[in-house]
Amino acid sequence: MLWVKSLHIVFVVSWFAGLFYLPRLFVYHAMATDSIGIERFKVMERKLYYGIMTPSALIAVASGLWLWLGYGIGGGWLYVKLFLVAILVAHHLWLGKLMADFRSDKNRRSDVFYRWINEIPALPVLVFAVLLVVFKPF
Ligand code: HEM
Repeated sequence: MLWVKSLHIVFVVSWFAGLFYLPRLFVYHAMATDSIGIERFKVMERKLYYGIMTPSALIAVASGLWLWLGYGIGGGWLYVKLFLVAILVAHHLWLGKLMADFRSDKNRRSDVFYRWINEIPALPVLVFAVLLVVFKPF
């Protein structure tokens, strides 16, 4: 069980690394004017999203489900945590849609917008999910 939990924590960390870094790339992509820079951001975003974020999300969720359904670790706290995870998965998919807009040069949002989604909702979800799983308040 401890190997599965270790795997879970490692891929949760990797997933969050991408959830924080991809919007940061969007900030600079939205400000870029040179075509070489714009094409470079498209490559970086695609590799981050499909090479790191999505595999990490899949392994983090699969190992979490294994801990819950395989080892029977759960409680009221887990249902609230699952709700938070659903928000994260929706955010992950939305970031993919925003990346597709950038890829086809259809982005119309400003760097200020992307500075906001750089932190929200990833940071509050991270804090509440970790507090829930460590304290298990109910
Ligand atoms: C469907 C998704 C997920 C499920 C079903 C799930 C389920 C679980 C379960 C059952 C445990 C074991 C708790 C224990 O042994 O005390 C656990 C541990 C943990 N989970 Fe998740 N989790 C999921 C996603 C996440 C996400 C997105 C985060 C990040 C915010 C996260 C952070 C953690 C941490 C830090 C631990 C270790 C807690 C400890 O050792 O006390 N999990 N998870």
